[in-house]
Amino acid sequence: MSFPVNRPRRLRATPSLRDLVRETSLDPADFIAPLFVVPGEGVRQPISSMPGIDRVSADLAAEDARALFALGVKSVILFGIPETKDPVGSSSADPEGPVCRAVSGIKSASPGTVVITDVCLCEYTSHGHCGLLAGESVDNDATLPILAAEALAHARAGADVIAPSDMMDGRVAAIRAALDGNGFPEIPILSYAAKYASGFYGPFREAAESTPSFGDRRAYQMDPANVREALKEVEHDLAEGADMIMVKPALSYLDVVRAVKERTNVPLAVYNVSGEYAMVKAAAANGWIDGPRVTLEILTSMKRAGADLILTYHAKEAAQWLGK
Ligand code: PBG
Repeated sequence: MSFPVNRPRRLRATPSLRDLVRETSLDPADFIAPLFVVPGEGVRQPISSMPGIDRVSADLAAEDARALFALGVKSVILFGIPETKDPVGSSSADPEGPVCRAVSGIKSASPGTVVITDVCLCEYTSHGHCGLLAGESVDNDATLPILAAEALAHARAGADVIAPSDMMDGRVAAIRAALDGNGFPEIPILSYAAKYASGFYGPFREAAESTPSFGDRRAYQMDPANVREALKEVEHDLAEGADMIMVKPALSYLDVVRAVKERTNVPLAVYNVSGEYAMVKAAAANGWIDGPRVTLEILTSMKRAGADLILTYHAKEAAQWLGK
């Protein structure tokens, strides 16, 4: 039956009716706020390509996490910028490094905060690749024990969730075995299962000082043209013991999110990455778009596509807008 019997506009007539029939909603508890942590104390350095986001020392990361919690954002993910880098990323497992210090600082300042740590080597290697090099390529199997040691250091510091983003094959199994073998069988793994080789990571690499010194990441991150391959990656990571999975970036990959959602029954995260954030901020600063409105529309689209959790630099401001 169609018009005039059917009039879809009937259900759009008033704000309360629209609230009643809304299919998707945003909750700050579904946001995970990324925090960039640096050595030192009392350090807060703005990131020019990511207005509103700073690099902070562990003490200020703890304050930020507490403020986020008060707004309903109960989860953070930590990225570290270490004092020193070398070809094998030794500082990645330093118990005194910025990530481990921030984990314990946040857990004491805001015990309810879920502290997730990103596990990767690109911030810690002098060449900026996500694993150890063999000539000009990244040696998958030689990288696994280093990633496992990094994850274990984070767990010992008190991390609640481990999130490997390196895209080495077999890293979920290697990290799971290291955690289980050292008294951390209860710590979940959120794997960056389908992570694409994307141009949208530009501002992050400035923030994390993790740009590769030569080449690119296409030999380990995924080809943006592929979706079946994302399903394969997800299947492998779940078989290796991943508790939650992620698709990254988010906005240009919502079809991937939907496809993964339809085939899995674990919590699905998306990463609303730095370049997506920077584009919105730049256009809003120029007055070309309404920043808050577009931001909430984008975050809603991610949930509508099937995301349960959203890693987003908008977490704090979006929680503020939603609370009003
Ligand atoms: C580290 C990592 C990256 C991001 C998250 N973890 C960068 C990369 O793979 O080059 C990007 C996040 C963002 O752009 O916001 N491997």
